[in-house]
Amino acid sequence: MNYSSLIKEWSGQVQPALVASFVFLFCLEACLWIRNLRQKKRLPGPFAWPVVGNAMQLGQMPHITFSNLAKKYGNVYQIRLGSNDIVVLNGETAIREALVQHSTEFAGRPDFVSFKSVSGGNSMTFTNYSKQWRKHRQIAQTTLRAFSSANSQTKKAFEQHIVEEATELLKAFFKLTDERQFFNPSNELTVAAANVICALCFGKRYGHDDAEFRTLLGRVDKFGETVGAGSLVDVMPWLQTFPNPVRSVYRNFKELNGVFFAFVRDKVAEHRVTFDPDVTRDMSDAIIAAIDKAESEVGLTEAHTEATVSDLIGAGLDTVSTCLHWIILLLAKHPHVQVRVQEQIDDVVGRDRLPNMDDKASLAYLDAVIYETMRYTSFVPLTIPHSTTSDVTIEGLHIPKDTVVFINQWSVNHDPLKWRDPHIFDPSRFLCENGLLDKDLTNSVMIFSTGKRRCIGDKIAKVEVFLFSAILIHQCTVENNSNQDFSLDCTYGLSLKPANYKISVKLR
Ligand code: HEM
Repeated sequence: MNYSSLIKEWSGQVQPALVASFVFLFCLEACLWIRNLRQKKRLPGPFAWPVVGNAMQLGQMPHITFSNLAKKYGNVYQIRLGSNDIVVLNGETAIREALVQHSTEFAGRPDFVSFKSVSGGNSMTFTNYSKQWRKHRQIAQTTLRAFSSANSQTKKAFEQHIVEEATELLKAFFKLTDERQFFNPSNELTVAAANVICALCFGKRYGHDDAEFRTLLGRVDKFGETVGAGSLVDVMPWLQTFPNPVRSVYRNFKELNGVFFAFVRDKVAEHRVTFDPDVTRDMSDAIIAAIDKAESEVGLTEAHTEATVSDLIGAGLDTVSTCLHWIILLLAKHPHVQVRVQEQIDDVVGRDRLPNMDDKASLAYLDAVIYETMRYTSFVPLTIPHSTTSDVTIEGLHIPKDTVVFINQWSVNHDPLKWRDPHIFDPSRFLCENGLLDKDLTNSVMIFSTGKRRCIGDKIAKVEVFLFSAILIHQCTVENNSNQDFSLDCTYGLSLKPANYKISVKLR
């Protein structure tokens, strides 16, 4: 018997079995769906196919799909991914009702296998709600504050790190413009943001030419592909059993987490060797001391120390660099906005010194550009997935304990009832008639989430983004390559990454 007839015979036997299994699963799913509907248990939502659920409907940009589904099913609805029922929350009212009014019920994280690869399995960010988690978060938050905003001295020291990095970043940008004329600023921005948080954690920065550091960071931007809401790794574990793109992404994810965590673990180990309880040199020292103290109280172990540092570095570099990347691209795309920012900075700061945080109150238009970038791009479109810690009711709909919840920040920032022409980039929407910033409106932008899982780095992120942007725009003009289609395409993950756009900078 030749090879092709063997295949024919084999597929003749297997195909009916496959079809029968598919029909069986389909009927089973349909029966469950009808039963739940009769018992009014199922939340509204699209029909979920057997095995895959709604995975095929997510599309390239799940947050936009979710917003479209909200028009049909309301702001609280259910989808299914693989075998997981997932509740999607859209719009400011539903999201605030859940995350603020029912903050504890929505403070959980799902029991996803990918979350266990982060920070050696002891991540605070990717751990479910518990007494131990509360203490872990408090330690991370207090340490971050102590080294960035606790008093005027730490504020100044933190600002100084940013000024130093912004100056190095400018040098790297000018060098790239000289060498290539147009370049993608992504890697340099990642190094700059990583250096700010490394300076806080380890008291050390790395050069833009440091090959080891660049290799380490070069892969970190892939992290969000796996942990972003809508990633299929955790909801369809069977995808790990045969070669396919999801399996490759997940293998890369595990490897990059291993390499990144090993880097942090080594640095913390070096700190332990020279640790002196009377001299706190940096955040690593502060975290070593705080976790040692908390060990007996709630069972945090030494391993949680490096996990905390790894969480803070991981969270602090990718988000800030992505935000700066979008600001640069939007300024290159909208030269009139860039000129207006430059004019305001020149008026307030002049040309003889660099901008600093004391200028912020007088630079409302720059702040407006930053908030509009956050709103318009919504570059963290969905938060890290949450889960419910007990049964809860939102907008009259019952959500059981341990349900995975996706929170659609993009839907808040693009609600046409709240924002006039939400699809248009218009920083002046944030200015009052007197030219000052409309604080009520800036508070309505949702990018750091809210409630018990709200980002703990929001304040330092705002300082970094403001100061980096102010110094860059004060010192140079960002230009677009006129041959380039500048449609601002991006790839989806925990954060939206701009496509490979190239810019150049001109010294002012
Ligand atoms: C523009 C920059 C940033 C943005 C847009 C951002 C946004 C977010 C978002 C959306 C979350 C998830 C919240 C949720 O799941 O509901 C988060 C969590 C977190 N962020 Fe940020 N972040 C930024 C910068 C930073 C920085 C600079 C740090 C620290 C150095 C940081 C540390 C964290 C941590 C530790 C968490 C986990 C909180 C938890 O699970 O309890 N972030 N951030």
